[in-house]
Amino acid sequence: MKNEIITGLDIGSTKVCAVIAEKTGKNKFKILGVGKAPSTGLVRGEVSNIIDTAKSIKAALNEAEEQAGVKVTEVIAGVSGENISSIRSRNYVTITNEEQEVTMADLRKLKEDMRSIQFSKDMKILHILHEEFFVDRQGVVTNPLGVACSRIEASNHVVMASGTAIQNIQKSVKRGGYEVKDLKLQSLASASAVLEDAEKDLGVLLLDIGGGTTDVLIYQGNAIRYSRVYGIAGNRITNDIKETLNVIAEDAEQLKTNYGYATEAAIVKDDTITVKGVGPRPSTRIPISLLTQIIRSRVEELFEIINIELEKSDVKKKIRAGLVITGGGALLKGITDLAEKVFGVPARVGLPAEEHFDGSIGELSKPEYATALGLLLPLEEDYLVDDSEVEKPKGTFWSRAKSSDKIKSDKSEGKKPKSKSSPIKDFLLKIRDQYNDL
Ligand SMILES: Nc1ncnc2c1ncn2[C@@H]1O[C@H](COP(=O)(O)OP(=O)(O)OP(=O)(O)O)[C@@H](O)[C@H]1O
Ligand SMILES: [Mg+2]
Repeated sequence: MKNEIITGLDIGSTKVCAVIAEKTGKNKFKILGVGKAPSTGLVRGEVSNIIDTAKSIKAALNEAEEQAGVKVTEVIAGVSGENISSIRSRNYVTITNEEQEVTMADLRKLKEDMRSIQFSKDMKILHILHEEFFVDRQGVVTNPLGVACSRIEASNHVVMASGTAIQNIQKSVKRGGYEVKDLKLQSLASASAVLEDAEKDLGVLLLDIGGGTTDVLIYQGNAIRYSRVYGIAGNRITNDIKETLNVIAEDAEQLKTNYGYATEAAIVKDDTITVKGVGPRPSTRIPISLLTQIIRSRVEELFEIINIELEKSDVKKKIRAGLVITGGGALLKGITDLAEKVFGVPARVGLPAEEHFDGSIGELSKPEYATALGLLLPLEEDYLVDDSEVEKPKGTFWSRAKSSDKIKSDKSEGKKPKSKSSPIKDFLLKIRDQYNDL
């Protein structure tokens, strides 16, 4: 029998990346082909132009297919953007079999019952991630299979995405000539690729800082405890540089990636660098520390917003192992220093781990490929579901999504951040004035 072929499609705000792999063992994959194309049809992680997004998808997938020497028809696509929300919700099933013990069928029913709830209009359930199981209200069991009890209850982290955001991904993929087999929250995919098991157990905060979004996730006790998406990331920093130093976007991006730091304390040598003038504006020279002030003010504000939210949501104390930063934004020099200062926990950059793959992942060993590679990996939500025992649900994601009007939730979390005026604007204007006086 031929090995299964899986395709991950990361539709990011700056690039679309496709990875075609062959499943060579339980949780082992051999990469056959990779394709990448610039992405211009997304704003803050959501598709805003289907035609442009479809073109990028087609280009990335065609390149990957050529390299792999296979033609694929369906993909596992990532989902992100501020449309994502999550809630915690509990449900239970009564054990009715003669032996009075929990079976795989009971666990599947728990998940299916949850999936049939429509939590809010236009929101579709992406994932039901079990946090804990309780039997006969006696307390927590990590693996309830075979436990004797009269009822089993689960606390769940339910991740939802807006129906229209999902449809736009679906349409773009279809227009590119492919089908969406499944959808996965991008941060969950990145987490699968970069987090260590020990971190997920002890408690870890993951930040995937891309071009359009910063995706936040907390794992603790090997379960997802928190997820949220912010529409502030690398593009916003580039835009701050552009508007503060009056340069074109491409030059702002170059200044950031070539010379920028997340914090002044990390600067190795405060050389002066050239800022190219636009039109009648002459070129000038500025110290790296001035560029860094612009970058730091935005990144620090982002980290502070996230940190305050984590403290408010009472999940900050779960981060015992520390913080892992991935996505292209992790390449900003000094970013872990600034993160450690704001969050008060140790930080590291997360690169995709080679252990999941047969052979070297070569060029893909960079933080910006965490999502694309992670899309190939199975989720913890399936950890109890043994491939050999359980028939995979039939059909595509869309055809499986169903809804009803039952609702039963504990607490809302991860709502869209409110837009509020920020002191950062005044700060940047002050730097701009200083810069103009140079
Ligand atoms: N050396 C660097 N220093 C600072 N930022 C960098 C560096 N290299 C890349 N970046 C930034 O990383 C961002 C792109 O990251 P990534 O490829 O993870 O985004 P994406 O997946 O396309 O977007 P998203 O996930 O937000 O939809 C860009 O804003 C880019 O400027
Ligand atoms: Mg990304």
